[in-house]
Amino acid sequence: MSRFFTSRLDQLTPYVPGEQPQDRKYLKLNTNESPFPPSPGVTRAAEEEAGKNQLYSDPESAALRRALGERYGLEPERIMVSNGSDEVLNYAFVAFGDETAPLVFPDITYGFYPVFAELNRIPYRTIPLDGNFRIRPEDYYDSGSNVVLANPNAPTGIALEPDQVEDILKRNREHVVILDEAYVDFGGVSARPLLERYENLLIVQTFSKSRCMAGARLGFAMGSEELIRDLKTIQYSTNPYNVNRMTAAAGIAALREQAYYDDCCRKIVENRAWTKERLEELGFSVLPSRTNFLFARWDRMGGEALYLALKRRGILIRHFGLERIKDYNRITIGTREQMETFIAGVRECLEEKA
Ligand SMILES: Cc1ncc(COP(=O)(O)O)c(C=O)c1O
Repeated sequence: MSRFFTSRLDQLTPYVPGEQPQDRKYLKLNTNESPFPPSPGVTRAAEEEAGKNQLYSDPESAALRRALGERYGLEPERIMVSNGSDEVLNYAFVAFGDETAPLVFPDITYGFYPVFAELNRIPYRTIPLDGNFRIRPEDYYDSGSNVVLANPNAPTGIALEPDQVEDILKRNREHVVILDEAYVDFGGVSARPLLERYENLLIVQTFSKSRCMAGARLGFAMGSEELIRDLKTIQYSTNPYNVNRMTAAAGIAALREQAYYDDCCRKIVENRAWTKERLEELGFSVLPSRTNFLFARWDRMGGEALYLALKRRGILIRHFGLERIKDYNRITIGTREQMETFIAGVRECLEEKA
């Protein structure tokens, strides 16, 4: 930190993204990216749009919001798009972070939430997951403040059922419930139908996972017109041209090629089941995942030791140092071939240990 850095933020610990080492070629199963490229129309659309880059993008992203509106059956006024879903999540923290009633979210969840809160100096309170790493819906009833939940949760991969989500909404009518559905397309159930009945619901999704576009940075939020207007107030106070031309064009093209992405998700779900079975055969405990990753523990080796042993073999998975989950690793699901390489790597670690 330089001597000029604001004392207001001298306690801020930034988010640490999954490592992207350049020293050798790795099998990357550490950042929940898709192993599949975007659909062909996406590349064509982005290339075409690149020729118009002398002009700013549309700050309203009207065409993209219309396309999303058609896909999700919502008026464009109820949708906001952003530079990755991280951006709109940050805007939501700014817009709905309350000085007097701390935001609530689970103790084990997406690691950016406490960072957004600290960056924006918003008080927050974490609620422990239960002993099986599940969110207990009752813990969020009448919370007296705005709520943030990833559903399915990360890094556990476990999802709440729709009726559990609805109970949380019902019991927090005076507060916003921000539902981060980054991984919902891998077997979860979106709360989208609940938007008709709950004006306190804000759903955030991303093109980074199920739509194979992590590098393009495109996310979006769906909610009441009023909630979306609040987010736009923050957008226009931060970065009006938040979605660049190429990404907006790519997003529209992706929405036209939904069948391709459905097929990608189907393959990931199949490979997830295959990998889970192999890991369980090897003695791992694996949490039930509805995402494009598995969260698993192995009694024979600590989480960090396994992560390091695999890294030496050119396989990257994600280990988190947090006390409650330090025995676990998060493994992104790739192609079948990638998962075979991963399992072979785990077997080698086992043999080395024996
Ligand atoms: C739960 C969750 N929400 C949001 C994001 C942010 O995704 P992006 O900014 O790429 O849309 C991630 C990224 O890994 C995530 O795990």
